[in-house]
Amino acid sequence: MRFLSFSSLDFRLHLLVRANLCSNCAQICTLFGYSKMAEVAVENGNDSITRVLFCGYYFPASHNYTREYLQSYPFIQVDTVALDEVPDVIHKYQICVVKSRRLDSELIAKAAQMKLIMQFGVGLEGVDVDAATKHKIKVARIPGSATGNSTSCAEMAIYLMLGLLRKQKELEISVKQRKLGEPTGDTLLGKTVFILGFGAIGFDLAKRLRPFGVKILATKRRWSSDSLPSSDSSFPNDDIDGLIDKKGGPGNMYEFAAEADIVVTCLTLYKETAGIVDAKFLSSMKKGSLLVNIARGGLLDYESVLHHLESGHLGGLGIDVAWTEPFDPEDPILKLPNVLITPHVAGVTEYSYRTMAKVVGDCALQLHSGKPFTGIEIVN
Ligand SMILES: *[C@@H]1O[C@H](CO)[C@@H](O)[C@H](O)[C@H]1NC(C)=O
Ligand SMILES: *[C@@H]1O[C@H](CO)[C@@H](O)[C@H](O)[C@H]1NC(C)=O
Ligand SMILES: *[C@@H]1O[C@H](CO)[C@@H](O)[C@H](O)[C@H]1NC(C)=O
Repeated sequence: MRFLSFSSLDFRLHLLVRANLCSNCAQICTLFGYSKMAEVAVENGNDSITRVLFCGYYFPASHNYTREYLQSYPFIQVDTVALDEVPDVIHKYQICVVKSRRLDSELIAKAAQMKLIMQFGVGLEGVDVDAATKHKIKVARIPGSATGNSTSCAEMAIYLMLGLLRKQKELEISVKQRKLGEPTGDTLLGKTVFILGFGAIGFDLAKRLRPFGVKILATKRRWSSDSLPSSDSSFPNDDIDGLIDKKGGPGNMYEFAAEADIVVTCLTLYKETAGIVDAKFLSSMKKGSLLVNIARGGLLDYESVLHHLESGHLGGLGIDVAWTEPFDPEDPILKLPNVLITPHVAGVTEYSYRTMAKVVGDCALQLHSGKPFTGIEIVN
């Protein structure tokens, strides 16, 4: 099925009505493969439809799976709209899934029917939460520990670490050149890994890294037990001490960086963490050590990272997230030998996306029937 954006649909409806091709809306809708849901609702004389807006066509499984989950509920309509068309249509929707779209105060002011702005995941850095609060709109994320997203992200971090240790780019060259038994890679065994930002992903990562025989260092703003990821009942909070070899706060960041062979950034991006991996941080890392980022591109200072890679101080970079997305495939940083990039797929797995689609779908159903939201973490 082809999903029309609202603005183009409205335009066509307008033309059709003016041309008197048909007078019945349901017919027009059918003509254009417009959602079956709207059609049924119109036939029933029930125009109470809850509309869900997905911003932009990136991360297609997010809207596809949500639409699939809701297909038997004709009174919920799920639309995907190009990023730059969002301002023209946002006033028609009750729920907005932002993805990579920025929602500033101006745009939020236009969202006259909006009840809930949510992320398909955790990152809400593009949303002006204060403006939403002012307009009585709830803003929410889907906690990664409940959906398998953090587990997916943790596995991805390990994938990138192993890729760097085994020199993935050189491996591919060896295969092309019909070489055997080179290059010599390295093991995780015996390494020290510093998890910068011990949230849900950091926690899942530490659990999975343990069996590799690594030493684990981690920093977190507060280590109070109530701020630890709690949904994993198989792992009591008291056992954190057995999982981490050294716990620290932001003040220990440079000291831990100096001790680690691999640094993994698992922080949320906000004002205080933007560019946290800067020249000072990178030069405190060991010569030849590796850096992996599966959180947000803005955590790393681009110029400093490029410089430290070129000088050989940084032995490798593995990123699933970049400074601008989609990232320019011709960017000079990608030409360097031990740099690996993936297209923001850490959390994009069947398991995690089906679960998050269910959370979004359930929120739409709850809003429609006036029930309280479940499965999301409201931040305002
Ligand atoms: C319209 O549909 C919704 C969802 O099925 C239902 O809750 C509501 O009562 C209906 N309203 C009318 C007037 O039929
Ligand atoms: C999403 O749905 C579209 C249209 O049905 C399809 O072309 C595309 O392959 C789907 N992509 C994913 C990742 O599910
Ligand atoms: C889930 O995955 C997406 C895509 O990788 C990511 O942007 C988002 O922040 C993740 N959310 C989590 C960890 O809950």
